[in-house]
Amino acid sequence: MPVKVVIGAQWGDEGKGKVTDKLAETADYVVRYSGGNNAGHTVIVGDEKYELHLIPSGVLYPDKVSIIGNGVVIDPIALITEIEGLKKRGLSFDKFYISNQAHLVMPYHKTFDNLEEKRKGSNKIGTTKKGIGPAYTDKVARRGIRVGDLLYQDVFEKKLKEVLDFKNLILKKVYEVKELSYKIILKEYLETVKLLKPYIADTSEILERAYKDNKNIFFEGAQGTLLDVDYGTYPYVTSSNPSSGGVCTGAGFGPTKIDDIIGVAKAYLTRVGEGPFPTELFNDMGNYLLEKGHEYGVTTGRPRRCGWLDLTLLKYAARINGMTELVLTKLDILSGLKEIKVCTKYKDKNKDDSFKTTSLNGKEIPIYESLPGWEMDITGLNDFNHLPKNACNFVKKIEDYIKIPITVIGTGPKREDAIIRK
Ligand code: IMP
Repeated sequence: MPVKVVIGAQWGDEGKGKVTDKLAETADYVVRYSGGNNAGHTVIVGDEKYELHLIPSGVLYPDKVSIIGNGVVIDPIALITEIEGLKKRGLSFDKFYISNQAHLVMPYHKTFDNLEEKRKGSNKIGTTKKGIGPAYTDKVARRGIRVGDLLYQDVFEKKLKEVLDFKNLILKKVYEVKELSYKIILKEYLETVKLLKPYIADTSEILERAYKDNKNIFFEGAQGTLLDVDYGTYPYVTSSNPSSGGVCTGAGFGPTKIDDIIGVAKAYLTRVGEGPFPTELFNDMGNYLLEKGHEYGVTTGRPRRCGWLDLTLLKYAARINGMTELVLTKLDILSGLKEIKVCTKYKDKNKDDSFKTTSLNGKEIPIYESLPGWEMDITGLNDFNHLPKNACNFVKKIEDYIKIPITVIGTGPKREDAIIRK
């Protein structure tokens, strides 16, 4: 049975939630492997709209196993709030597991995220302020506290005491702000144990069994390739590896077992937070995409920066991820435009594959190819042959450029609004 990975091919918010949800119909296991509750997936099922942050979209189906792997950083209070909210809406968590090796987002991580952003002023990253960066920092610095530590009160108490003493020293001496209370954090986190305990497991082992039993496994990416801490527009990135390589370390799953890597890209481009975005539009067209595409962050509500599709960036994402197919979302948003532009190179760089995150400095001039648009509203279309000719040509242009087949095309917000081409 195939093992598939769904990854964001741009700066996140590509519509992966809906894609994974759609593909989850055929999956037995849906697994998150990176990021935390900085992610936000909107999925519409019938008349119900779900906004998921930490929980894999598999939870929307009662028969799927949903897993949060060790590569995810978990804010236990945010997780419990999300679980309780979804339970109230009738969803089941009988087949939901979180890795005992995943790191916890602690209250001081959120404090430091906020303080650092403030300190940086105009050089800020524009983070979601969920404590994600500081949590990964502590993981790598070997002073993180893991989900499994919650199960042993004495271990948790000792680790918390040690780390908090260190954090409070910095809060007091460097930032000159109030220290955090050990007692309050301890109490708050120990209260989560009872609620989280049933879900804590060795998820890598669960996945190994699933693989041996020939189950369909889906790894659901959060954020996007250009936010990857190694391959994104560093330092304006998140602190994990959302690209396909992150699956192996973030879920304890070997690379040789993966069959299919599905990139997800919007028919145009968006980004939240700071950092380079060469095809960003600062004119009416940018506002048009913002409003028609409802481009407001699920997690923070921030308006997204909008621009034309960058094919050079997409080709880079295809390479970094070893992408085998592409899902193109929100094609319907482009309906009604006379002209649609795609960036095929940058000035002074004649080669198609010139996109380099390392050399982006905000001064590059994108060179566009202009494609004719289409009038027809394509919302909800399911058949590629019923698309207007110019919409088909737009899709083919992308395929020709990145040399990856587009297998699914999103034509609206609902689960069923998609063209499946294979
Ligand atoms: P952090 O992940 O909160 O540290 O934020 C770092 C950068 O990643 C900021 O530019 C955020 O706006 C961006 N970011 C984090 N999560 C998402 C996401 O799910 N979608 C889009 N951008 C994100």
